[in-house]
Amino acid sequence: MPRLTGKTALVTGAARGIGAAIAKAFVAEGAQVIVTDKDDEAGRATAQDIAARFLHLDVSSEADWQAIAEAVPRLDILVNNAGITGFEGEDGPPPAHDPEHATLADWRAVHATNSDGTFLGCRYAIGAMRETGAGSIINISSRSGMVGIPMAAAYAASKAAIRNHTKTVALYCAGQGLAIRCNSIHPAAIMTPMWEPMLGDGPDREARAAAFVADTPMQRFGQPEEVAALAVMLASDEAAYVTGTELTIDGGILAGSAATPG
Ligand SMILES: NC(=O)c1ccc[n+]([C@@H]2O[C@H](COP(=O)([O-])OP(=O)(O)OC[C@H]3O[C@@H](n4cnc5c(N)ncnc54)[C@H](O)[C@@H]3O)[C@@H](O)[C@H]2O)c1
Repeated sequence: MPRLTGKTALVTGAARGIGAAIAKAFVAEGAQVIVTDKDDEAGRATAQDIAARFLHLDVSSEADWQAIAEAVPRLDILVNNAGITGFEGEDGPPPAHDPEHATLADWRAVHATNSDGTFLGCRYAIGAMRETGAGSIINISSRSGMVGIPMAAAYAASKAAIRNHTKTVALYCAGQGLAIRCNSIHPAAIMTPMWEPMLGDGPDREARAAAFVADTPMQRFGQPEEVAALAVMLASDEAAYVTGTELTIDGGILAGSAATPG
């Protein structure tokens, strides 16, 4: 029995990676899915592949969210997935993102997508879910929202903002007497195109990949489909009493610490 039959779901940043896997899993569970992304070409291709609808959405743009509110006035599930690390730029070396050298412009660019985008998404979703008085908002934060990341200050701070805003939205909706739930998912290393700038395509690619997960208890990258499985659960009515919570999916990293006794 499909778990999301009759539900309308919108996923941001769904052209590829985790967002695309979530959109695909939602379609498989019977939902009407709207794939959105700022990359129209890739977004359209993904939507076509999985039999979903595509709409343009740059999550940092209030005007784009307004257009979404007009095109999709009623919604059951929103996944605020679009996110950037700040290392995506293809022109030259990646910018510094440590707290001593990061520029204000680079800091703000990461927050514009990650934190502003999630705030705008939640605001839209509460309005679009009010008519039925129920729904599920899923915010994709990160392991980086729970610990400090010295070389990715804006990313870590923005993901911490998402973690906290999730709880505010959950409490606000419950306080309004709405069955609109809001939860966050905290992945660690999930093998998606986001990792390309860090892995490179040189002969040491495999070794670099292995090094990134050497300290992960399960010693491997996670797969986007594994994150999508959690999103399906949170989106479904099985999670009707789950709100304001945070689910880590990190191969066991946050179960311990670097100083854990052996
Ligand atoms: N991959 C990981 O290891 C990992 C770990 C923790 C958290 N996450 C989070 O999961 C989410 C998805 O990551 P991914 O690895 O699939 O990334 P990705 O880079 O593979 O895909 C991100 C997608 O978001 C889109 N996007 C970027 N900025 C946007 C904007 N302003 N508006 C709309 N779309 C935009 C991109 O076009 C792309 O299609 C992100 O929020 C990321 O921070 C990923």
